[in-house]
Amino acid sequence: MAIAKCAAAIHILILCFALAYNHAHADPIAKPYNVDQDVLLPGEKVINVNDLGAKPDGMTDCTLAFMDAWRMVCHNLTVPSRILIPPGRYFISSIIFQGPCSPPTPVTIQVQGTLLATTDISEFENGEWLMFDKINGLKIIGGGTFDGQGRQSWQYTQNCDANPDGPACQRNPSSLYFNEVSNVVVENIRSVNPKGFHIFVTKSLNVTLSKLKILAPETSPNTNGIHISLSDRVIISRNIIATGDDCISMAQGAQNIFIDKLKCGPGHGISIGSLGLYQNEEEVRGVRIQNCTLSSTTSGLRIDSWPDRYPCAASNISFRDIMMHDVKNPIIIDQEYECYPNCQKKPSLVKIENVHFANVRGTTVSPVAVELRCSKLNPCKGVTFSDIDLKFGAGPTTARCQNTIPLYNGFVMPPACV
Ligand SMILES: *[C@@H]1O[C@H](CO)[C@@H](O)[C@H](O)[C@H]1NC(C)=O
Ligand SMILES: *[C@@H]1O[C@H](CO)[C@@H](O)[C@H](O)[C@H]1NC(C)=O
Ligand SMILES: *[C@@H]1O[C@H](CO)[C@@H](O)[C@H](O)[C@H]1NC(C)=O
Ligand SMILES: *[C@@H]1O[C@H](CO)[C@@H](O)[C@H](O)[C@H]1NC(C)=O
Repeated sequence: MAIAKCAAAIHILILCFALAYNHAHADPIAKPYNVDQDVLLPGEKVINVNDLGAKPDGMTDCTLAFMDAWRMVCHNLTVPSRILIPPGRYFISSIIFQGPCSPPTPVTIQVQGTLLATTDISEFENGEWLMFDKINGLKIIGGGTFDGQGRQSWQYTQNCDANPDGPACQRNPSSLYFNEVSNVVVENIRSVNPKGFHIFVTKSLNVTLSKLKILAPETSPNTNGIHISLSDRVIISRNIIATGDDCISMAQGAQNIFIDKLKCGPGHGISIGSLGLYQNEEEVRGVRIQNCTLSSTTSGLRIDSWPDRYPCAASNISFRDIMMHDVKNPIIIDQEYECYPNCQKKPSLVKIENVHFANVRGTTVSPVAVELRCSKLNPCKGVTFSDIDLKFGAGPTTARCQNTIPLYNGFVMPPACV
């Protein structure tokens, strides 16, 4: 077919896509030009950013063309519609994709090319690179790349873990920030080198993040892969995350989170917390993590809460069928976050309950494979281990438990805490 002849020069490629686009435009259902099997909905209208003046040369600022495209699909079309971003490099400053769309028709953003963030951090007025706000029904697909061009900003990054309230701690812009969205799918795209987090999901409902490649150097600071707070029903499936901070972090109000078939590492593993820093934080409840592989991460599976400070809770959390390769702290509950050792503060007020580890196997690079440092005021309840096999090299591992008495089932290495 016509597209097959287009393999050579980029500008010819773009021309071919333009032709294919016109064809699809004339009869959307007849012959999809799409490269990723994503079929157009009946009557779906395609808005090509290049037709609105975007220049995929990696230099021209395409922000206005993208905003015009968004205005059309979200605020000016009464049929399902999509923004097509063909192959090429699109330089973008900072955008809010503002909803709610009216009338509320499904919107797709199909990214085939690469979006490049400006390196000028002063342009990030809303604090993020690409923000999706109050949208119901959105798909972001297409095999393309979001490149946050974060390298320059990393050198100014403060360590926010030690002192998140501190005046010096300012979060760098996330590449993709979802605020108050619902029924959203992000699939088959890449995020590389964000300034801050790759993907941030907050105050949202029913969000699926799948088949994503999320990449940044191991040394890049605070480049969390996927961060979730105050959100219900987030499905995170078949992703590959190699980054400088947590692969996935779940903060207050993360509920009914399902993580499946994640490949994580390098990075800081999968974390819940840190909880209890602020007043009136919402609970983390219902997190199921299964069939994941962690390689060369500094932590594996962790739950953190701040000593002293405020009440909160984390409950109904299960980790099942997890492989570890050379992980540093494979299983850790730390209620003396950023205070251990010799923590002199009052015990944490956060309740941790019903946490299950099942079929967790592999190798560690430290002899203590399980560390449960629970609060004296709120001993962790209902922590269970079944079929655990974590080795330090070829040797045995140990477990330490404080203010909790876990239940054990099947083979367990490290052996039960005494
Ligand atoms: C929005 O739609 C109206 C009516 O179809 C049209 O007149 C107007 O030019 C459109 N505006 C934009 C920004 O596309
Ligand atoms: C969640 O969102 C997806 C994608 O929009 C949608 O297909 C699905 O029906 C939604 N699920 C529920 C329970 O609303
Ligand atoms: C993990 O994947 C394996 C193989 O695909 C499957 O047999 C197993 O049931 C999965 N585990 C869970 C908890 O789904
Ligand atoms: C935890 O899960 C159990 C069993 O699935 C359920 O009965 C209970 O209501 C859940 N608790 C919370 C706080 O979600």
